Amino acid sequence: MKPVRKAVLPVAGLGTRVLPATKAIPKEMLPVFDRPAIQYVVDEARVAGITHFVFVTGRNKSAIEDYFDRAYELEDTLRMKGKTDVLQALEAELLPPGASSFVRQQAPLGLGHAVWCARDVVGDEPFAVLLPDVIVRAAPSCLAQMAQVYAREGGNVIAVEPVPESEVHKYGVIDPETRDGRVMKMRAMVEKPKREAAPSNLSITGRYILQPQIFDHLARQGAGAGGEIQLTDAMAALMQEQSFHALEYDGRSFDCGDKAGYLRAFAAHALADVELGARCAEILRELLAEERG
Ligand code: G1P
Repeated sequence: MKPVRKAVLPVAGLGTRVLPATKAIPKEMLPVFDRPAIQYVVDEARVAGITHFVFVTGRNKSAIEDYFDRAYELEDTLRMKGKTDVLQALEAELLPPGASSFVRQQAPLGLGHAVWCARDVVGDEPFAVLLPDVIVRAAPSCLAQMAQVYAREGGNVIAVEPVPESEVHKYGVIDPETRDGRVMKMRAMVEKPKREAAPSNLSITGRYILQPQIFDHLARQGAGAGGEIQLTDAMAALMQEQSFHALEYDGRSFDCGDKAGYLRAFAAHALADVELGARCAEILRELLAEERG
């Protein structure tokens, strides 16, 4: 079985739900407490063994490329001032030379199209997809948990989680057939179903381990939900040929794609901070008390 070494991160989205900041800053660079959202997702993948990152970008996203590069002037200044701890922290978050690729999605045709744009860089090997709108707090990391399932089962593995029935229309939803602990075999999956048509309340979390044959399906895939080329539709087609497992991962996800979700992610990471968590909790309590008058 070939190991999963590469991860595709679709980062071309316009971030319209978090305007106006995203006019000038990619939404993936918005800080979630003390680090940009994208850093959490890259860390999740690195601890799962990913060594190469394929960012599918669009116009106005160059800040992401710069972020993972060296910042010579900054590093030099920090060195002169003897701020070695800050320097070391920056060093740890760099991607090694040659460990990232950037491809452009020239038009917003959907997630499936974005993943397809990475086909030449991924080549003929299994790969991961991580949607950076979603930060997952989990130990081991969500993708690491999926990699364990992949090592046992091979094929394709996706992460899922239960959501309220009133929310299923926002997600890809799976139709589970059999279940063994947290791992399920699936009959089908559907993108953004109406509540009445949803086969379950298990939503796709935005973490995938896929075989390269998905690209053949994506190349042929017509527009689906929302008029976009959907990854879920191509996976549903590939499911007719290859094994697919869903893992109800152990952890908690934060969808930073809209303002309320972003606040929740920010607050949760602030509260979980080893040094500042207790102070952050005090601040939040004070704010709520003031609000209540
Ligand atoms: C995408 C996927 C969907 C998945 C969701 C997770 O939807 O298409 O299947 O459940 O991410 O956040 P989007 O949020 O881009 O509409």
